Amino acid sequence: MHPHQTDHAFVSALGVQWLHRPVPDQPGLAALLAHEALDADQQAAVVQAVGASVAAECAAHGYHRMDLVVLHPATAGLQAALQRFDQPHTHADDEVRYILDGEGIFGFLDAQGQERVVTVRAGDYLRVPAGVEHRFTLTAARRIKALRLFTDTAGWAAHYTQRPVGALEMKE
Ligand SMILES: [Fe+2]
Repeated sequence: MHPHQTDHAFVSALGVQWLHRPVPDQPGLAALLAHEALDADQQAAVVQAVGASVAAECAAHGYHRMDLVVLHPATAGLQAALQRFDQPHTHADDEVRYILDGEGIFGFLDAQGQERVVTVRAGDYLRVPAGVEHRFTLTAARRIKALRLFTDTAGWAAHYTQRPVGALEMKE
């Protein structure tokens, strides 16, 4: 099998939904996404432009909130945040990310601790169900914009599994 297909098979077996859905061709959206940083109004404009395209997912899974996460090299506290994201963890709520710009690296772990590392880019939509062990970091470009969908942000704390692993980015 092609490596990409084996990645899909591995993450699908964990219950992770990983789809490719082109970023909507909305007026002004590409220009906004080309900025490294976005202020609150610009973030709201991106959510407005993209939100309707995920209405079916919101209805199907009960996602009541969405926002845009924007990370770039000058993001305050980025290094510390990446060190937290890099530790294997689970959430009590689904983790849904629709990548709109930049790229990131997810590691997905099965019950035996076997890990599959996948790079995600604009157009990748991931739904990591509650309880699925995973971790995340950015690529060397240190840049991503992703729509996040939530049933309830209270359920979205990280529960660290303490699984002993090396740094995720070292595997790229
Ligand atoms: Fe997570």
